[in-house]
Amino acid sequence: MNIIVITGASSGIGREFARQMDHYFSTIDEFWLVARSQDKLEAVAKLMRHKTRLFPVDITRKESLEALENAIFQHNAVVRMLINCAGYGIMGSFCEQELALEAGMIRINCEALTDLTHRVIPYMRWGSRIIQMASSAAFLPQPGFAVYAATKAYVLSFSRALGEELENAGIYVTSVCPGPVDTPFFEIAEATGTTLGIKKYTMVDEKRVVALALRDSYYKRPMSVCSLPIKAFHVLSKGIPQGVILKLMKQMKKKGL
Ligand SMILES: NC(=O)c1ccc[n+]([C@@H]2O[C@H](COP(=O)([O-])OP(=O)(O)OC[C@H]3O[C@@H](n4cnc5c(N)ncnc54)[C@H](OP(=O)(O)O)[C@@H]3O)[C@@H](O)[C@H]2O)c1
Repeated sequence: MNIIVITGASSGIGREFARQMDHYFSTIDEFWLVARSQDKLEAVAKLMRHKTRLFPVDITRKESLEALENAIFQHNAVVRMLINCAGYGIMGSFCEQELALEAGMIRINCEALTDLTHRVIPYMRWGSRIIQMASSAAFLPQPGFAVYAATKAYVLSFSRALGEELENAGIYVTSVCPGPVDTPFFEIAEATGTTLGIKKYTMVDEKRVVALALRDSYYKRPMSVCSLPIKAFHVLSKGIPQGVILKLMKQMKKKGL
């Protein structure tokens, strides 16, 4: 049985991956959709043509990931694609945030993603794909979004190295690094702080991010960066010393930009 596993499939970008792949992928037997909210997963599944299997679990719990791995083993499933989309970010200055929320970002954005990737790779075959949701926040340290940006820098670094390791096995890894995407992500992120105003002008919709990510994954590209401003930000973050950009960002925040 050929399957696709998507975490964070109940909302936003993960849900959009499920929708678009349901449309285009004809050789897949089942989509395995993972997130905590059963009702939202059921709503996604209802709109899909493929058979789905729902895992309404918290993937920061080891037993959830064990159960998922056991299910893959018991069904003798081949994982054609793993999409690690579950995650969250919270804004605001580090010292003023609840530690549980800060540490929780590391647990879901980094630990759970790494754990699941490790468990799933043995069930992949030549041509399988891994898509990891990083972010343009991975390109630069971000005061006011410090832990989130650090978790995404981890995802990008880990995934690029993993891609090199797996290339000879014919398994291709793509890190997706969008700027702001119009999803419920910001309902959580902005509950504790605000972002640079300019980010609002670079907001894109999830359809565009997912369509490009799937294309980049198909062409075995290690990174997927959507939209011109974010591509320019990526180039700048490599060409200009980080200290200079951080000072500039501070000035922009002071001026409310
Ligand atoms: N939106 C943006 O601007 C943006 C930009 C760059 C990167 N990203 C990244 O893209 C990914 C998806 O974000 P999104 O924009 O689609 O946000 P979203 O709409 O809030 O989706 C987050 C998903 O993660 C799931 N999730 C959260 N905690 C979980 C847990 N402990 N166990 C299982 N599932 C969990 C949520 O489902 P439940 O609540 O049902 O569990 C939901 O399906 C994240 O990794 C985010 O960092 C987002």
